[in-house]
Amino acid sequence: MKKEEYENKLPWDKLIVALDLEDKSSIAEVVNSLYVQRVKFKIGSIAFTKYGPDFLKTFIDKGADVFLDLKLYDIPNTMKRTAAVIAEMGCWAFTVHLQAGKDALTEVKDEVFKTSERLGIRKPLILGVTVLTSQVSDCKSVMDLAKIGNEVKLDGVISSPQESAVIKEQYPNLKVITPGIRINSQGLGDQKRVTTARYALTEGKADFVVVGRPIIKEKDYFNAALKVLEA
Ligand code: C5P
Repeated sequence: MKKEEYENKLPWDKLIVALDLEDKSSIAEVVNSLYVQRVKFKIGSIAFTKYGPDFLKTFIDKGADVFLDLKLYDIPNTMKRTAAVIAEMGCWAFTVHLQAGKDALTEVKDEVFKTSERLGIRKPLILGVTVLTSQVSDCKSVMDLAKIGNEVKLDGVISSPQESAVIKEQYPNLKVITPGIRINSQGLGDQKRVTTARYALTEGKADFVVVGRPIIKEKDYFNAALKVLEA
């Protein structure tokens, strides 16, 4: 995305809000505050473990794009069976660890394709996690993992916004999704490799940004999201 484009129109559709909350009504409130903007929502292990698939389905049934972030990492058979169940739910996207290796990832891909075809539903994006943004890392380790994602032809990878441009240049077919977004250097929490959303989506060439605490810890979710995109 070009800088001018960014400034003319805030990229709400490139924002994925991480619903890392334990309270059902707060989660629903975040979704209701941002749903009309066509923001996407990420449900991770906190909310999924507590409230399960039926809760997630309420947002999918409402028409929201839901990204299930369980970061699958297991033997190929377990990964592919779990991936098939996720595809059946109608998620927009889900994550796997690239470290699971090519065999497991290929099986996941094939199974998701078959399941979606059989049910006649949209195929979820399969996104490979490179190195967690809470860990200090070098670009080579991230690129080695991104290479696996490219070879297996996953839909995209998750990386910090500090590596996203290099991944996009080398592997233009991969979508790059970047957590590690902050308005400024305050409130980093456990994140180590961070930038602003604007940087990630322009210079960083990311396709989507994932933002949790800078939005969900605020009282006014809409204004907080606006500030994140404007920063
Ligand atoms: O609150 P914060 O904006 O740091 O949330 C970032 C979200 O992105 C969290 O839900 C976290 O689990 C997720 N994530 C990450 N780093 C990755 C993959 C996912 O921070 N590599």
